[in-house]
Amino acid sequence: MSKKRAGFATRMGAIAATVGSAVGLGNIWRFPYEAGQNGGGAFIIVYIACVALLGIPVMLSEFIIGRSTHSNMKGALRQLVPKSKVYLMAYVCILGALLVVSFYSVVCGWVIEYLVQAASGNLTGHTPQEYTTIFNNFIGSPSRTVLWTLLFLAINFAVLMRGVQKGIERISAIMMPLLFVILIVFCINSLFLPDAHKGLAFMFSPDFSQLTWRGVVDAFGQAFMSLSLGVSCLITYASYYKDDTSLTKDAVVIAALDSLVAFLAGIVIFPAVFSFGMQPEAGPKLVFEILPSVFEQMAGGYIWAVLFFVLLFFASLTSTISISEILIMFMMEERGMTRQRATWVTALVTVVLAVLCALSFNVLSSLKVCGMNLFDLFNYLSSNVFMLLGGLFTAVFVGWFLDRRIITEQLTNKGRLNVPVMNYLMFCLRYVAPVAVVFIFLQLVGII
Ligand code: TRP
Repeated sequence: MSKKRAGFATRMGAIAATVGSAVGLGNIWRFPYEAGQNGGGAFIIVYIACVALLGIPVMLSEFIIGRSTHSNMKGALRQLVPKSKVYLMAYVCILGALLVVSFYSVVCGWVIEYLVQAASGNLTGHTPQEYTTIFNNFIGSPSRTVLWTLLFLAINFAVLMRGVQKGIERISAIMMPLLFVILIVFCINSLFLPDAHKGLAFMFSPDFSQLTWRGVVDAFGQAFMSLSLGVSCLITYASYYKDDTSLTKDAVVIAALDSLVAFLAGIVIFPAVFSFGMQPEAGPKLVFEILPSVFEQMAGGYIWAVLFFVLLFFASLTSTISISEILIMFMMEERGMTRQRATWVTALVTVVLAVLCALSFNVLSSLKVCGMNLFDLFNYLSSNVFMLLGGLFTAVFVGWFLDRRIITEQLTNKGRLNVPVMNYLMFCLRYVAPVAVVFIFLQLVGII
């Protein structure tokens, strides 16, 4: 089955690729606006609890399945439980991945637009309110949003056409640390803005009266989105991991780094929101309307802006590559397609869905499902339904049904490592995950 499986060159390569997958628009664009819409601090506390109780355990479950079978999710489930239909769950994950990449690449298009605008010097000389209008005008333009989405997808699939993305891995090994450093610079800058303390209070002094049950599920969905969980992405990546990789240590490090990047993005955005007299609950446009004003009042703002959008572009690209790779690998291994063919098929389907999402802010804006346009619907369904249910299915599967020996073997690297967190992990997988499933279901159908 796994003919010609390219691997990662080094242990760092595999980990860097996983961090590259995890860190992206989810941290820098989605986390601040989700926190902003759900009252700030309380949302962040639920988010942290979710990462510890569900995120890391689900990540480990995906690692265990991927590395023990060296296969994609469907192949893995067939190998682990032959003669059963559980492998059908893989199709749910594939569908989830398709939804994610479709709306996500539209936002990647926004990043290109802002990179172009920053580079041509247009992101200066406006009030914060004017930047809101500028953003609204932009997403109202079908030609520009579609053009940038298509350009982004063309780059994404051109990279994927060439197999495991050595070049991108190498580039992101430089870009990721740089992105981290530049976020720290922006944080320091934001902390010195007038009224910065209001933004910090919003983030760090939780007011649970601001948080609804829907907000709690949003926090779960955000954690899963940010850690790339629930659509078998990490199963696919871990199928390439080496035998001496410590899964537990890596899961903790990846989750911590990823959350740190999200918190840094929050510390950049919220002081600025309050300082410029804007609203934290602005939704998906939040980061795009705030950042230009942040750059504007920094010395050398032009350079910072261009550098930031370049880095964000690469961070987004490593994320979309990882999502598309799930679909491509699936078709190669389960349908026997060549990489070229699998990439073309994935690209075609993605392009259609992504263009529909891009148009949902303009030409198709009257097309609403449950009060949401297509972009919002895909965004909501992928995190709050597909990723959560896919991830929790994986957790319950590993917790209750997978042979305990496989779990122990994978976590201890056949007895070579000491893993003191085994009981904690099993507790989360066997009890916390099912309770979360019930809770999410009740929220989804409107009972709570
Ligand atoms: N985690 C990425 C982010 O925060 C998004 C992402 C990349 C993803 N790969 C994924 C989400 C796979 C779900 C599944 O931006």
